Amino acid sequence: MAEIKNITILGAGMMGPGLAQIFAVKGYNVTLWARRAEVLPGVIETIKSNLNLMAENGIGKAADIDSIIARVKTTDNFEEAVADADFVEEAVGEKLELKQQFFEKLDRICKPEAILATNTSVISITEIASTSENRHRIIGTHFWNPPYLIPLVEVVPTPDTSEATVNATMELLSDCGRKPIHVKKDVPGFVANRLQHALWREAISIVERGIADPKTVDEAIRYSFGFRLPILAPIENADMVGTQLTWNIHSYILKHIENSTEPSPLLKEMLDSGKLGFPSGSGFYDWNDEKIAKSKRALQEYLIKQQGTNEKDYL
Ligand SMILES: NC(=O)c1ccc[n+]([C@@H]2O[C@H](COP(=O)([O-])OP(=O)(O)OC[C@H]3O[C@@H](n4cnc5c(N)ncnc54)[C@H](O)[C@@H]3O)[C@@H](O)[C@H]2O)c1
Repeated sequence: MAEIKNITILGAGMMGPGLAQIFAVKGYNVTLWARRAEVLPGVIETIKSNLNLMAENGIGKAADIDSIIARVKTTDNFEEAVADADFVEEAVGEKLELKQQFFEKLDRICKPEAILATNTSVISITEIASTSENRHRIIGTHFWNPPYLIPLVEVVPTPDTSEATVNATMELLSDCGRKPIHVKKDVPGFVANRLQHALWREAISIVERGIADPKTVDEAIRYSFGFRLPILAPIENADMVGTQLTWNIHSYILKHIENSTEPSPLLKEMLDSGKLGFPSGSGFYDWNDEKIAKSKRALQEYLIKQQGTNEKDYL
């Protein structure tokens, strides 16, 4: 694989600016492409504001911000954006056909040695790559939001992805201070979203069945296993309590846990009555601008405090 110097990010939505930031901080030349030129100045503003907040909290130096920003070019010209790219990170909308179109086009016009990565949250990488010719260089790299504060990146090869593509992608992400994990099989939802949505399905089902109200469900998680989760995850926890107890608990409880293969009817009711969460000001909770800002700030401040604290040297 060629040395990676130039990185192109496609998309300027929630994820694009943070992805550009990660690579620019590490010294790569970054180009961010968006379909609409008018959103491009906002990308730079977002990155600056993220970097300032981090510097204020002792992560990175304020004096370095201008040179980091200088490494990020923005453009609405697609061909120009990808012409010199050694690594492309696609972060456009979460629709299979859209992503297939992007990869077909990228595969036609990018340099033959460029790696083409998608930040899809749940869609099979094999399906995304299926309409492209040079599938050995297509790979999933699933970042989490905000990507510069959440370390995990799920690296998901398809059966056609070359080992060289996997290795170069893992190295690049480690070099940028991320925590890449190699997912061995390309399954919808990969590892972390399968786990996350198993929990969300049960949480919403508990509300739907009137077992507890939304705030109580969230508190039950935050003050119990959620409280220790950053340091004790389920597999290590199963060993800690012993696999016999785990077996006994599962033998009794699994048949009582939600196993629907469809979204909850409660969610459908909420959608039909315009309860969209933050976007409409009401969801499971009631929201206004002040509460929304507080919720986002609390998350950012918590994640900043968490940086670099979870490594385990004994597993
Ligand atoms: N937001 C998250 O928490 C999160 C986390 C991990 C992964 N992802 C994934 O990253 C990708 C981007 O997510 P996001 O949250 O930034 O989405 P977003 O909706 O905020 O932004 C998507 C961007 O793609 C652009 N876009 C949409 N349709 C397009 C088209 N036809 N042509 C060109 N550009 C188009 C939009 O204009 C926008 O700039 C998705 O695949 C998503 O599933 C999102």
